Amino acid sequence: RTRVVVLVSGTGSLCAALLDAADDPAYPADVVAVGADREAPGLEHARRRDLPTFVCRLGDHPDRVAWDRALAGAIAAHRPDLVVSAGFMKLVGPAVLDAFGGRLLNTHPALLPAFPGAHAVRDALAAGAAVTGSTVHWVDAGMDTGPVIAQREVPVLPGDDEGRLHERIKAVERTLLVDTVARLAADPPSTRTPRETPR
Ligand code: GAR
Repeated sequence: RTRVVVLVSGTGSLCAALLDAADDPAYPADVVAVGADREAPGLEHARRRDLPTFVCRLGDHPDRVAWDRALAGAIAAHRPDLVVSAGFMKLVGPAVLDAFGGRLLNTHPALLPAFPGAHAVRDALAAGAAVTGSTVHWVDAGMDTGPVIAQREVPVLPGDDEGRLHERIKAVERTLLVDTVARLAADPPSTRTPRETPR
């Protein structure tokens, strides 16, 4: 089975969905560790299952370069085939990209390239979008700029506020992420063409 390390910063409901899916022996991937950049509530999903966790805080390192190197090392210790950034709210740097580029994916609560950045749901509402959604994409050095792997639409409903809309998007993201990881696990990076695995 494909080994997956998940990175979180918040509640980790997407991570929990992946852990639940991986409980099924027919699912082609295992979550082998969950990491965070802070003492994130999402780490509990792994601790409850006695899975390894790690916390790599920016503030514990002299600078971003050292933090990025430490994060790359912490991830590598679990020998992942895929790394999933699921609500991980920091941009990774060259050490993580060198080690895991083409194997590192991110979920984003909008239909990229629309509404990149940390406030995608708020920005979609402010722009009066009728439809937004979720994107799973490969991570590159930019902010939410890497090649799109899968997307699913979510309509904006009358009376939506940021919280309600984000919860409906997250419900879609959970199945989109579980489905996408299963698809990638059945088609490991080594068999994909270079064009599909940009760094
Ligand atoms: C998800 O909506 C994910 O797409 C988003 O954070 C949420 C995490 O939810 N990620 C980003 O905004 C990354 N820029 P969770 O903590 O409940 O899994």
